[in-house]
Amino acid sequence: MWPLVAALLLGSCCCGSAQLLFSNVKSVEFTKCNETVVIPCIVLNVEAQSTEEMYVKWKLNKTYIFIYDGSKNNSTVETNFTSAKISVSDLLKGDASLKMERQQAVLGNYTCEVTELSREGKTVIELKYRMDSIPDQGSDCSYHTTPTPAGDEKEKGGCKLASWFSPNEKILIVIFPILAILLFWGKFGILTLKYKSTRTNKRIILLLVAGLVLTVIVVVGAILLIPGENPVKSASGLGLIVISIGTLILLQYNVFMTAFGMTSFTIAILITQVLGYVLALVGLCLCIMACEPVHGPLLISGLGIIALAELLGLVYMKFVGHLKSLVYVAQELFPKPLPSSAIYEQLPTRGLYNLLGISEGK
Ligand SMILES: *[C@@H]1O[C@H](CO)[C@@H](O)[C@H](O)[C@H]1NC(C)=O
Ligand SMILES: *[C@@H]1O[C@H](CO)[C@@H](O)[C@H](O)[C@H]1NC(C)=O
Ligand SMILES: *[C@@H]1O[C@H](CO)[C@@H](O)[C@H](O)[C@H]1NC(C)=O
Ligand SMILES: *[C@@H]1O[C@H](CO)[C@@H](O)[C@H](O)[C@H]1NC(C)=O
Ligand SMILES: *[C@@H]1O[C@H](CO)[C@@H](O)[C@H](O)[C@H]1NC(C)=O
Ligand SMILES: *[C@@H]1O[C@H](CO)[C@@H](O)[C@H](O)[C@H]1NC(C)=O
Repeated sequence: MWPLVAALLLGSCCCGSAQLLFSNVKSVEFTKCNETVVIPCIVLNVEAQSTEEMYVKWKLNKTYIFIYDGSKNNSTVETNFTSAKISVSDLLKGDASLKMERQQAVLGNYTCEVTELSREGKTVIELKYRMDSIPDQGSDCSYHTTPTPAGDEKEKGGCKLASWFSPNEKILIVIFPILAILLFWGKFGILTLKYKSTRTNKRIILLLVAGLVLTVIVVVGAILLIPGENPVKSASGLGLIVISIGTLILLQYNVFMTAFGMTSFTIAILITQVLGYVLALVGLCLCIMACEPVHGPLLISGLGIIALAELLGLVYMKFVGHLKSLVYVAQELFPKPLPSSAIYEQLPTRGLYNLLGISEGK
């Protein structure tokens, strides 16, 4: 008897340890991506040696929805919360968090009450529902005007899609393809100025038409994607941009073929571009399938690589153009044309020229 009283007295005067302390979490959010919902309740100063000494009660508003009686090792749940449970094995670590299926999760203020022998305490955690990863854009989705934690079936794919990307990400998704298309037009310009005479005009007209169509598609896609007030529009815009941008690979191939044929450099550039396109497509697919918006960077880096390959193509064309004119000037300087190999010997850039693998100039 006396030791118990002494312990109680000690317990109550020494640093207020009669009170259990909780980690300071005021609210938690869940989204349609959470299969189970965990309402955290962490006791910081658990001293119990056995769960038999512990008693956990969870209530929502005034109703107890879950009770764990350690002395009986028995949990009781309210009829509407059949999936509610705590992890008994984590109790001694102070973890009395309540887990339940998302379908049963009711929004509101949950009170976690823990008793450990003579010590007790409680904390209130508010459970909230978050419609989208970007709260500001929740209004994007007309289907979502009222939070319906359990009502997933009504969701439109397009609604998810529109909210995957932050405004900055959307800008990158539009900027890279537009940059790539501008670079294509740059190459097209070089092609018409420098190489027109030597090749057929048919191919150039084809490139012009295909380039114009692609430009229009991407601009339309950007106009659909950027405002984002209509989820279906945004999704179609994204699809248009990402899928159509692959045309650039064919265009770049045709530009190279029209200009000077394939070299190891142009092949490397094209392979890079194909890889970028694959990355972008995989990113798009993952974005469509995944719940969380984690694959945006993949999609964006794919688009970035496509633009980079386009830039490399332009630089290469410019470079080869210079070399070609160097050869031309060299040929002009010698009244009696030398064999082309002799010209290369005299060019300081010969090594580079060979390295670039350009077929012998005419
Ligand atoms: C929902 O899932 C996210 C990410 O997995 C997690 O951080 C969050 O704590 C979960 N919310 C709840 C209430 O369980
Ligand atoms: C809890 O109480 C609030 C207001 O006091 C009420 O709006 C809400 O519906 C209640 N929640 C449940 C699950 O009873
Ligand atoms: C409590 O009961 C569960 C099964 O309901 C069992 O797995 C667990 O070991 C028991 N714990 C104690 C401390 O008796
Ligand atoms: C837990 O207690 C309830 C009633 O208090 C009882 O119906 C149930 O059988 C008990 N469960 C276990 C596992 O002892
Ligand atoms: C349980 O759910 C039903 C239907 O959702 C509701 O009418 C009832 O009030 C709920 N009971 C409690 C105790 O919250
Ligand atoms: C939960 O409690 C907070 C603070 O007391 C309050 O602002 C909030 O409205 C409550 N939420 C619900 C759903 O009752």
